[in-house]
Amino acid sequence: MILKRIVILFISIASSLSCTKDEYAALNEKGTFTLPKMPYTYDFLQPQYWSQLLYYHHVKVHQFYVDDLNTYIKNNSTYTGLSLTDLIIQYGASDSSIANYAGGHYNHSLLWWILLNSRCGDREPNNNLGLDIDSTFGSFDEFKTAFTDTALDFDGSGWVWACVKSGKIEIRTSDNENSPLAGGDCYPFLGLDLWEHSYYYYYQWDVEEFIDSWWEIIDWNMVEFLYEEYAYEGKAIPV
Ligand SMILES: *[C@@H]1O[C@H](CO)[C@@H](O)[C@H](O)[C@H]1NC(C)=O
Ligand SMILES: *[C@@H]1O[C@H](CO)[C@@H](O)[C@H](O)[C@H]1NC(C)=O
Ligand SMILES: *[C@@H]1O[C@H](CO)[C@@H](O)[C@H](O)[C@H]1NC(C)=O
Ligand SMILES: [Fe+2]
Repeated sequence: MILKRIVILFISIASSLSCTKDEYAALNEKGTFTLPKMPYTYDFLQPQYWSQLLYYHHVKVHQFYVDDLNTYIKNNSTYTGLSLTDLIIQYGASDSSIANYAGGHYNHSLLWWILLNSRCGDREPNNNLGLDIDSTFGSFDEFKTAFTDTALDFDGSGWVWACVKSGKIEIRTSDNENSPLAGGDCYPFLGLDLWEHSYYYYYQWDVEEFIDSWWEIIDWNMVEFLYEEYAYEGKAIPV
C-alpha cells in the first residue's frame, strides 16, 4: 500500500494536467449507437484512475456493450429507431438483453461525464443538490458514508447509484430486475462501477481504496447540473 502511494505521488508530480474537459453534449443517437468519445484524455483522472485502466474500460468494455446492443436491436424491429434512454425505459424491465447491453452503454456513457481530475473543481456538491442531500441524508458526509457502505456490502458485479424517485434522492444498487432507469422508476445522476474490470487491474482486491479514490474524482459541478436539469425533473440524462 505504501509503495502504491509512492507510485501515485510520482505519477501526479509527473503529469502536469490542465482541467480541460469537453462541454457536456449528448450524442442523442437513435437506432444505431457508437462509442462516445471520452470528454478528456485517458490520463486525465490520474493518479486515482490509471490511464491504462480507463483506456481498456472505454475501448474494450464500453465498446462491447455498444457492439452487442447494435447486433441485438437489429434483430427485432420493435427496437428500430429508438433512443438509448427510450430503449431502457420502455424495454429494460422486460428484456434482460436490453437491460444488459443498453444499460451497459448508458451506465458507462454517464460515468465518463461525471468524472474530473481531483485537483479541479469543487470537492463536494453545492446549490440544490447539496441542499437536497443535506435534507435527505443529514449531511454530505452521511450521504457519502451511506453510499460507500452500500457499495462495500454489495457482492459481485454491478453498480451503485444515486437516483431520484418522485423528487427524492435514493441510493440503489444494480439488480437485474431493479435497474433504476428501467420502467422509468428512479432517475440516476451519480454512478459507481463496481465490476471487477473497473478497478482490479490497479487496485486488485482493495475495493475500499478504489471507492475512496472514486470520491476524489467526481465532477460535482457536472453532477449538480445533471441532477437539476434532468434527474430532479424526472428525466433521463441523455448521453
Ligand atoms: C435473432 O432472432 C432469432 C429469432 O428470434 C434468434 O434465433 C437469434 O438468436 C437472434 N440473434 C441475435 C443475434 O440475437
Ligand atoms: C421483439 O421485442 C419485443 C419487445 O421486447 C418482444 O415482445 C418480441 O418477442 C421480440 N421479438 C422477437 C422475435 O424476439
Ligand atoms: C446499469 O445500471 C443499472 C442500474 O444500477 C443496473 O441494473 C445494470 O445492471 C447496469 N448494467 C450493466 C450492464 O452494468
Ligand atoms: Fe464498467
